[in-house]
Amino acid sequence: MRTSSRPVGPTGTTTDCSFDRPEIRQISGPCIRPGGPVLTGRALDICGLPQGSRVADIGCGAGGTLEYLERKGLFRPVGLDHSETLLGEAVPRLASGPLVRGRAEILPFKKGSFDALFCECVLSLLFGERTAALEEFARVLREGGFLIVSDIFGRGSPENGQPEAKPQGLPAKGLLAKEDLLGLLTRLGFSLLLWEEHGRLLKEFVARMILGGVRPTDLWGCGQG
Ligand SMILES: C[S@@+](CC[C@H](N)C(=O)[O-])C[C@H]1O[C@@H](n2cnc3c(N)ncnc32)[C@H](O)[C@@H]1O
Repeated sequence: MRTSSRPVGPTGTTTDCSFDRPEIRQISGPCIRPGGPVLTGRALDICGLPQGSRVADIGCGAGGTLEYLERKGLFRPVGLDHSETLLGEAVPRLASGPLVRGRAEILPFKKGSFDALFCECVLSLLFGERTAALEEFARVLREGGFLIVSDIFGRGSPENGQPEAKPQGLPAKGLLAKEDLLGLLTRLGFSLLLWEEHGRLLKEFVARMILGGVRPTDLWGCGQG
């Protein structure tokens, strides 16, 4: 693992995600997703991770969750993101946490390196790399470790003969469907501890974006809707 207080990792890769745009962070604050630290704190309470747990935030963005975790004083979390811009914003926010530039689907960590992984509002952006990323999460988590996913999802799955969650006219990539995510996690050996839905927080987030002049179609799916 290469760690640094400055982002390191593959060069020349630029993010294709609109979450990089500074006006989005002006509205969202350092946590670029619905719920912000409220949902991170809730997950922490549920997992009850002891002091010194090895924790990583995959797709850490501008470091909002890392800052929150550091302030708890229990761990020194590692952050990984593929966006140089967002990692650059995370640096001044953090006292010591290592930041790594890399991709969720090819994690530069050894097998069983972590007790818990946060992955907040990232899987829904991965499309074709989603399975690879989850396989990587299973690899780098220790046996019995926690995967904490906070994300938007669609109800219904074509695999189950239900209508696809995405509206018509959008690219085939589609929205992460609950059934598909749970099926994939089960196949990879995860067992579900808790599933909660926080639609109100999603609505609040989207409403703030709209009022701030950001179109919802610019958010998830890099402009796909
Ligand atoms: C909606 S933002 C969420 C950021 C952060 N998790 C948070 O809660 O504030 C999505 C993040 O995922 C990152 N991301 C997207 N695809 C990625 C990939 N393949 N590997 C690593 N990071 C990725 C983006 O750069 C961005 O920081």
